[in-house]
Amino acid sequence: MRIYLVLLGPPGAGKGTQAQILAEKFNLVHVSSGDLFRENLKNKTVLGQKAQAYVDRGELVPDDITIGMVKDRLMKSDCDNGAILDGFPRTPAQAEALAKLLSEMDGKVVSVPFISVPVETLIERLSGRWTCQAQGHIYHEKNNPPRVAGICDLDGSALYQREDDKRETVMHRIQVYQDQTAPLIEYYRKQNLLTEIDGTIGIENVTDRMITAIQEAL
Ligand code: AP5
Ligand code: MG
Repeated sequence: MRIYLVLLGPPGAGKGTQAQILAEKFNLVHVSSGDLFRENLKNKTVLGQKAQAYVDRGELVPDDITIGMVKDRLMKSDCDNGAILDGFPRTPAQAEALAKLLSEMDGKVVSVPFISVPVETLIERLSGRWTCQAQGHIYHEKNNPPRVAGICDLDGSALYQREDDKRETVMHRIQVYQDQTAPLIEYYRKQNLLTEIDGTIGIENVTDRMITAIQEAL
């Protein structure tokens, strides 16, 4: 049986930060739909060209494109044990498509940690975020600074600020999350998979609570 964790939470909640840590702890691959889109944008692939305008505006890329991209990623052999899903699913249609895919692959979602953070904190986090060019490692100028400004501790690549972290785009992303993604909280709560985690308590404390929730579910 392959196991999958779904990390839910608004933009800036800490999904990517936690997924990077948990992937190592549980020996699962970190699959971030946002990172996959950014990779395609950087490489100017056909998929990247289709996604560009949506990502730039902070809107969701249409379900058919997103589902196809994540499905291809989950079929790769490094996902044989399962994966930590970060940023997917993000609509009820994506959640249904995931359930169908996993049932065909002898897999299941075992736990859905929902990282909850108030809007003012999200804005502060996204405006101070720095991301690594090479592998998407995540920093914050105050909360989690790199050892050398502008350089990733882990792979030495340059850090950059995401285009969609501009204030107006952030506000729109939060609205899109509330309208289109927040319904998944109830969807997974009804399946007894959801654990709400206070995402304001510092990165290590959030990790500890997530590990406890996931271990209880395994
Ligand atoms: P995506 O890349 O998924 O962005 P997002 O969901 O908006 O989330 P973020 O990556 O901004 O936040 P995060 O929760 O990962 O926070 P992080 O750990 O970085 O999506 C981008 C775009 O791609 C979308 O707008 C859409 O266009 C498209 N897309 C992606 N998936 C899609 C899908 N399924 N369907 C359709 N379209 C899709 O942390 C943020 C900052 O806070 C960092 O600086 C970090 O250091 C800091 N921090 C983290 N945790 C803490 C803590 N506990 N205390 C203090 N600081 C913290
Ligand atoms: Mg992220």
